[in-house]
Amino acid sequence: MRRRAIPKSVGDVRFLLLTSEEDRYVFVAEWYDPNAALQRRYQLLFYPKDGSVEMYDVKNHRVFLRRTKYDALRKEDLFVGNKINVFSRHLHLVDFGDQYTARRLGSKKEKTLAMIKPDALAKMGSIIQAILDSGLTITMAKMVHLSRTEAMDFYSEHQSKSFFNDLINFMTSGPIVALEIMGDEAITGWRRLLGPTNSSVARSDSPESIRARFGSDGTKNAAHGSDSIASAARHDRIFDTSIHTNKLELEFFFPSSGGRGPRNTATFIQCTCCVIKPHAVSDGLMGKIINYILDEGFEISALQMFTMEKANAEEFYEVYKGVIAEYTEMLGELCSGPCVAMEIRGPDAPRSFREFCGPSDPEIARHLRPKTLRALFGKNKVKNAVHCTDLPEDALLEVQYFFKILDS
Ligand code: RTP
Ligand code: MG
Repeated sequence: MRRRAIPKSVGDVRFLLLTSEEDRYVFVAEWYDPNAALQRRYQLLFYPKDGSVEMYDVKNHRVFLRRTKYDALRKEDLFVGNKINVFSRHLHLVDFGDQYTARRLGSKKEKTLAMIKPDALAKMGSIIQAILDSGLTITMAKMVHLSRTEAMDFYSEHQSKSFFNDLINFMTSGPIVALEIMGDEAITGWRRLLGPTNSSVARSDSPESIRARFGSDGTKNAAHGSDSIASAARHDRIFDTSIHTNKLELEFFFPSSGGRGPRNTATFIQCTCCVIKPHAVSDGLMGKIINYILDEGFEISALQMFTMEKANAEEFYEVYKGVIAEYTEMLGELCSGPCVAMEIRGPDAPRSFREFCGPSDPEIARHLRPKTLRALFGKNKVKNAVHCTDLPEDALLEVQYFFKILDS
C-alpha cells in the first residue's frame, strides 16, 4: 500500500503525497514519558476500516508504531481533549492532525458541566444513567460539598436575584456531584434533558425530563446545566477552538492547571473502597452500578473519576502481585480508561460490601450468588465490573490512595 508522506511538523497539515484513498483520521497526541521526564508528541492515525492505529514520532521523524490492529480503540474515543490508551500508553489527544479529521469528527462536539444538586444525590445513579442513555459521555466526575464562598462564587451571576440566598442555602445543604459531559451538542442536549427550571412546570411541560422526575420545586430542581453557547458567550466565557466548552463552569470544578477546585467529600471513617472498572465505565454501566449499590442501602460518601497511570495501578494493586494469576491483565484493565473510585459506608462496610460484590469471578458469582454486583455486571475474572477492598485493614488505605494521594 502506498502511504501519505509524514508531515514535517504537526503544524503542517498538508500531506506531501495524497495517494491512499483509505479513510483515516489523524490526531496530535501527547504522551508523558516518565523515564525521560518529557512530554512527547506523536501523530496518531486511526483507520476505521480495520480498527488499526499507527503512530509517528513527530520530533524525530520516525515511525513509532507500525500500523497495527487495535480493537480497544473506537472511533467514538477519538476527540480532542480525550485521554486514550494505546498499548498501555496514555495518550492525550491535543488537536486534530488535519482538516479532514477536524471536519469529520470535530463539528458538533461540545463539553459542558452537569451538576447533581443536593436534593437529588440519592438519585445520582438514575440521573447518571439518563445522561449516558441519551448518548452523552461522562468524562470527569467529582462529589464535592460546596462552601458558602464557593457556591456564591459559582452562582455570582444571580447575586442580585431575590432567590439568591435560598439558592446558596440549598446548594450548600449537602454534597453535589459535578460532571463533565461530552457529546454532539452537549450543552443544549443536556439542558433539554434537564427540562424547565421549575420542577412543577417540568412535570406538566416535559414529564420525561430530569427535573420532572427528580426535582421538587423552583429551587430544589435536581440538577444544573451550563447555559447555551450564546448566553455563555455573553458572560465572556471562553471556548475551545475544537470542542465548544463552557470553560468557566468546568474550570470551577475541574481546573486544568494549577488550582485544585472544591475538595472531595471522603470522610475516611468506617468506610471501604470500591472502584468501577474502566470496562464497566466505557460500557455505560456507571449509573446502574451506583443505583444497585444505593438500593442495597450503602452510602456513597465520596466519588471521583480517575484515569490511572500504570505506575499508580501497580502501586494500588501491589498486594496482588505474585498472588493472583491474572495480575498483569488486571493491571492493564485498571489503566485502560477512566475508572470511578468511591468511598462506601454502611454497617461493617468492608465485610458487608465485599459480600455484596460477590466472588471475583463473575461466572462463579452467577452460579453461587446471582444477585451480587459482579454476577450482574461482570464479564470475566479481569473485567469483573468492580474492585472492592479485600481485607478490612486495607479499606482505609485504599480510600486514602484515591482521595488523598491521587486527588492532590
Ligand atoms: P441552573 O443554572 O441550575 O442549570 O438552572 P437554570 O439555568 O434553569 O435556572 P437559573 O435561572 O440559572 O437559576 C439558577 C438556579 O436558581 C434556582 N432558582 N430558584 N425560587 C426561584 O424563583 C428560583 N429561580 C431559580 C434554581 O435552583 C435554578 O436552577
Ligand atoms: Mg442557569
